[in-house]
Amino acid sequence: MSLDLTEFARACAVSPTRTADPAHARDLLDRDGAAILTDLGTDRETAAGLAAAVLGDRFVAAGIPIEVTDAGGKDPRRHADLARRMLPLHTDGFAYGAHAPDVFFLLCATPSDGDGLSFLVDQEALLTQLERSPRGAELATFARTHVVDQSEPGGHPTLGPLALPLPSGRRAVRRSIDVRPADDDPDPAYTSRMLTLWGGLLDAIGGLAPRFAVGAGEALAIDNTRIAHGRDAYTTPDRLLWRAWAWTDQAGGVPEGELWSDTRMVLIAA
Ligand SMILES: [Fe+2]
Repeated sequence: MSLDLTEFARACAVSPTRTADPAHARDLLDRDGAAILTDLGTDRETAAGLAAAVLGDRFVAAGIPIEVTDAGGKDPRRHADLARRMLPLHTDGFAYGAHAPDVFFLLCATPSDGDGLSFLVDQEALLTQLERSPRGAELATFARTHVVDQSEPGGHPTLGPLALPLPSGRRAVRRSIDVRPADDDPDPAYTSRMLTLWGGLLDAIGGLAPRFAVGAGEALAIDNTRIAHGRDAYTTPDRLLWRAWAWTDQAGGVPEGELWSDTRMVLIAA
């Protein structure tokens, strides 16, 4: 496949606009798939209120905010190891299947100055770019139509194309770590090749995408149906973000039971 990766990264990477106005952040989410809301507090309560403030009358539910502290936790050696690796492009909540949050927020309490930078790629824009390229069109068609197994071990079984149709008529383009050919796939070798190609393309674009910092008291708002997110490695041990998942009236549905901003409840229930 002959593709200009630098050109793809330029066309698909998202550099979010800053605003202190939640209503403007909602418009930016619609336009760009992401925004940075500024002039915020840095505590759990602030994180808990972001979804309702930004999403307005589209807000349906929010998960209890979770501390994101890759360099802390119960096993400092393992977490420090994770912090020193780039977190590749992914979407959140795929253990929830079609009920994954369609929007989420990352509120920065303590940044890792000079590293740990974020990057975003619009996967819908990537599919559109691929469709314009003779060799890329096959991969785009695969992503839009070919049913694959996206189930997270212990999570809801999720079978569907990478660009998963939602009941609202929207699609949610997923980037999960466990995607594989379905059990009844007639040609798993072909499917595995295409999944490797899609994942490799995203990783290459993730390596090339422009980076941006999110400072203390700033929240990155992300449309989880379009935008894959990642971050660079970092060194500050007490770097702290709050992650807050949200469901709007355009999501594929809200999971039952207590909602956290990770999939602990679905994994415990399984
Ligand atoms: Fe994430």
